[in-house]
Amino acid sequence: MRNTVPLPLFSFIPIFFIFFSETLALNPKCEIQDHGSTLQVFHIFSPCSPFKPSKPLSWEQTVLDQQAKDQARVQYLSSLAVARKSIVPIASGRQIIQSPTYIVRAKIGSPPQTLLLAMDTSNDAAWIPCAGCVGCPSSTFFDPAKSTSFKKLSCADSQCKQVPNPTCDGSACVFNLTYGGSTIAANLVQDTVTLATDPVPGYTLGCIQKATGNSVPPQGLLGLGRGPLSWLSQTQNLYQSTFSYCLPSFKSPNFSGSLRLGPVAQPIRIKFTPLLKNPRRPSLYYVNLEGIRVGRKIVDIPPAALAFNTATGAGTIFDSGTVFTRLVEPAYIAVRDEFRNRVGKNLTVTSLGGFDTCYTVPIVAPAITFIFSGMNVTLPQDNILIHSTAGSTTCLAMAAAPTNVNSVLNVIANMQQQNHRILYDVPNSRLGVARELCTS
Ligand SMILES: *[C@@H]1O[C@H](CO)[C@@H](O)[C@H](O)[C@H]1NC(C)=O
Ligand SMILES: *[C@@H]1O[C@H](CO)[C@@H](O)[C@H](O)[C@H]1NC(C)=O
Ligand SMILES: *[C@@H]1O[C@H](CO)[C@@H](O)[C@H](O)[C@H]1NC(C)=O
Ligand SMILES: *[C@@H]1O[C@H](CO)[C@@H](O)[C@H](O)[C@H]1NC(C)=O
Repeated sequence: MRNTVPLPLFSFIPIFFIFFSETLALNPKCEIQDHGSTLQVFHIFSPCSPFKPSKPLSWEQTVLDQQAKDQARVQYLSSLAVARKSIVPIASGRQIIQSPTYIVRAKIGSPPQTLLLAMDTSNDAAWIPCAGCVGCPSSTFFDPAKSTSFKKLSCADSQCKQVPNPTCDGSACVFNLTYGGSTIAANLVQDTVTLATDPVPGYTLGCIQKATGNSVPPQGLLGLGRGPLSWLSQTQNLYQSTFSYCLPSFKSPNFSGSLRLGPVAQPIRIKFTPLLKNPRRPSLYYVNLEGIRVGRKIVDIPPAALAFNTATGAGTIFDSGTVFTRLVEPAYIAVRDEFRNRVGKNLTVTSLGGFDTCYTVPIVAPAITFIFSGMNVTLPQDNILIHSTAGSTTCLAMAAAPTNVNSVLNVIANMQQQNHRILYDVPNSRLGVARELCTS
């Protein structure tokens, strides 16, 4: 049996800035009316996305580049210190953060202006490029002058204390932050934000005036983390800090999934594991990963590699912005070795960039099951393997977390979440997972 499937394409900010096409709106054929509290989610490389590369990249180049960006993102997630401020500096120094892979359509202001925001479960704040922005990457801006509900926040407003490096420009609250290789200077503002059909008046967000570098998502960021200025915190009355998403696979014909806001219409048939909060990294969604099964065998992982620890910040998170799952080294090696055994001891293993378990002949892969507290998630092959265009190379789509002092975080990434519904139920402190073919 040949496992030949179409090329999975991944996207990375620096590259798509070079190549993305000029139309900065969704392909009109892709727009379906958002209904109720559910909205469409697109992969940035989908045919619907204006950010898809206008010139295809080689598969090898794509994978190599993706690996480097993922590595930086995991390093960043690992190194987050205690954040008392809800917009934490995203990274320091030369770290580059891969921008999140999925976008949603937001309507901002009155009358509404449409922007495609990158969805990020590991960040809190929202920020958008505003008219007159110097150095913003796209030619699509939010124009405050055209919105009757727009308001600048002043230094005296309490929200001004929740942003990094706030300063006063006259009485207006302005702040600077670092995001990957970029720096951003923004006004703290409020306006009506609508994601699906419910308008949220007076939503607090950053209105970018100046940006440097190339890590800023072209039309802004939507933080779905747990801090005080996140979407969850600001819409608590409306959506009760509850949301779910289904991330479409690169391979699905329509390339669109969904983000469902609030407790209404969430799946009933879904498995749950407790959601944990780690004071070291309070924005992140932690769960307890107890073990990993490859085929029928629970692999031998030192307990410390999976332990949840509030002193060190160690543990396992779900993240929408990392592409390939990263396990701390001893856990990854145990999984990989058993995977290789099961695929066939006599097959030649090759590597590709940061992937160390690749084959140039067709393989049958064992199922991989994440054993969380109270919930087992068995991944189908599409969530485990990536295949090259010609079907000649197949790799295990996971890797070891970067080995440094902060390497204590296991990250369940978006490739492994695709075609599943992931439900974040903060009030009940639980995270749900159910198989679902993402369509909307
Ligand atoms: C999605 O796929 C279905 C079936 O393949 C097709 O009928 C429909 O037009 C597609 N929708 C979009 C938005 O492309
Ligand atoms: C913030 O960034 C702006 C523009 O780059 C700069 O002029 C200003 O000095 C910075 N402010 C702080 C507090 O770093
Ligand atoms: C190698 O493994 C495959 C699949 O497990 C098997 O079909 C084949 O006979 C093996 N070849 C050798 C030389 O052992
Ligand atoms: C998950 O799998 C493990 C190991 O196979 C098993 O012992 C456990 O009962 C399962 N848990 C659930 C909730 O199904």
